Amino acid sequence: MTDTPSRAIGRKSISATLKPRELMTDTPLLAGAWTAQIITLFPQAFPGVLGESLTGRALQDGLWQLQTYDLRAHGIGKHRNVDDTPAGGGAGMVLRADVLEAAILEARSAAKGIMPLVYLSPRGRRFDQTMARNWARMDGVTLLCGRFEGVDERVIDHFGITEVSLGDFVLTGGEIAAQAMIDATVRLLPGVLGNADSAVEESHSGGLLEHPQYTKPALWQGRPIPDVLMSGNHAKIAAWRRAMSEQITEHRRPDLWAAYKAKDAT
Ligand SMILES: C[S@@+](CC[C@H](N)C(=O)[O-])C[C@H]1O[C@@H](n2cnc3c(N)ncnc32)[C@H](O)[C@@H]1O
Repeated sequence: MTDTPSRAIGRKSISATLKPRELMTDTPLLAGAWTAQIITLFPQAFPGVLGESLTGRALQDGLWQLQTYDLRAHGIGKHRNVDDTPAGGGAGMVLRADVLEAAILEARSAAKGIMPLVYLSPRGRRFDQTMARNWARMDGVTLLCGRFEGVDERVIDHFGITEVSLGDFVLTGGEIAAQAMIDATVRLLPGVLGNADSAVEESHSGGLLEHPQYTKPALWQGRPIPDVLMSGNHAKIAAWRRAMSEQITEHRRPDLWAAYKAKDAT
């Protein structure tokens, strides 16, 4: 066990004046709520932007919950060291297997139901809407945020950890990637989006990118809103939006367009 307890963020029946960050408690996990467990050297980075707007409200309402596990609490010796030099030499530092093991075991002992264990990594499979949808159907996810040169490879092998990447670039740590992936997943949970249709019609939901959106004023900088959107003819509006979605997808993302056409043909 650690002397710095893991902390849960978000639960039902809170005062409207409290912010998610101020709700960090030692209370047990909310039974049944989708759970994001984050293993990190920077627990104070959470909930971060997830505490705002729809995801923040859903966190306060107990539609999902967040639990952070502080890697430093499992550090070695007086200085709580969590990293050491790479075997074989080279630049930077690597997170130690024994430190990671203790944090992972702490998190997994609190995990309920089906929760994949994921290491945020630029080497991993690229995160996408399908993955977000799959995670949303599970009971939660345990996300391991790396730092420095990453984690000791033996930990990945030992625990059978899945590596997932936010994209083909290198971040300083996994925390921003974790927040992006949790955001994409939590908004798909029942009750989080005010209008469930938003998630059905938006980009990447049906294999197409979204059509252009407009709002008031009707004329801005000499640019009018397309007439069809002001016509009140819902069938025509739907057809226009569909055509624009297809055009934008074909033009911008030939890969998505090819997959969409192939699916259409079956
Ligand atoms: C500086 S990076 C380490 C990069 C590693 N040396 C490599 O070349 O693959 C530090 C940490 O940031 C996180 N990270 C960096 N880029 C990422 C990405 N594209 N997706 C998800 N996590 C990322 C990982 O957790 C990683 O352990």
